Amino acid sequence: MTNDIMKVLITEEQIERRVKELGRELSDKFEGSEPLFIGVLKGSFIFMADLIRNVSLKCSMDFMAVSSYGNGTTTSGAVKINKDLNEDIAGRHVIIVEDILDSGVTLTYLCGYLQNRKPESITLVTLLDKPARRKAPIKADYVGFEVPDEFVVGYGLDFAEKYRNLPFVGVLKPEIYSDCEE
Ligand code: IMP
Ligand code: MG
Repeated sequence: MTNDIMKVLITEEQIERRVKELGRELSDKFEGSEPLFIGVLKGSFIFMADLIRNVSLKCSMDFMAVSSYGNGTTTSGAVKINKDLNEDIAGRHVIIVEDILDSGVTLTYLCGYLQNRKPESITLVTLLDKPARRKAPIKADYVGFEVPDEFVVGYGLDFAEKYRNLPFVGVLKPEIYSDCEE
């Protein structure tokens, strides 16, 4: 699998250090409250698992599954909720945990969708931010790393459902993408 990688953008050590910092910042910001962390599946599952272990709050967690991408590397623009929350979020501090903020279409939709349920607040945490590709005017409150306009995989992020288990974030060799392009 690592033979398919052209370059490593963010190492395992860099991720570990940054996730610790983010966990500390969130613990400080929400001290005294019991926020609900919402992981956006599937991409955020590894980030979420590492992040919450660095959060010292009495928090709860839930997951949503949304899809906006097919098997290629470009967005279709449409967002579909495949799995909704099990908990009521009215009056709660909600922290959305996402793998990457790309066009912003997914998170814009998700924030609007959750806002209708009257949470006390919504905070957006994303491991990666790719501002060059933004279509919707949305900013994350916490960003792990800014990445260039390249399709990245690893640490939860996939290409055609593969490479999520790489412990670092990297870019695949061009021939891997072109073999699968829609
Ligand atoms: P959006 O374009 O901001 O709506 O991003 C939607 C979703 O597309 C993200 O949550 C990711 O799951 C996926 N995505 C966007 N860019 C990348 C990438 O570079 N690698 C892997 N997945 C990506
Ligand atoms: Mg995602």
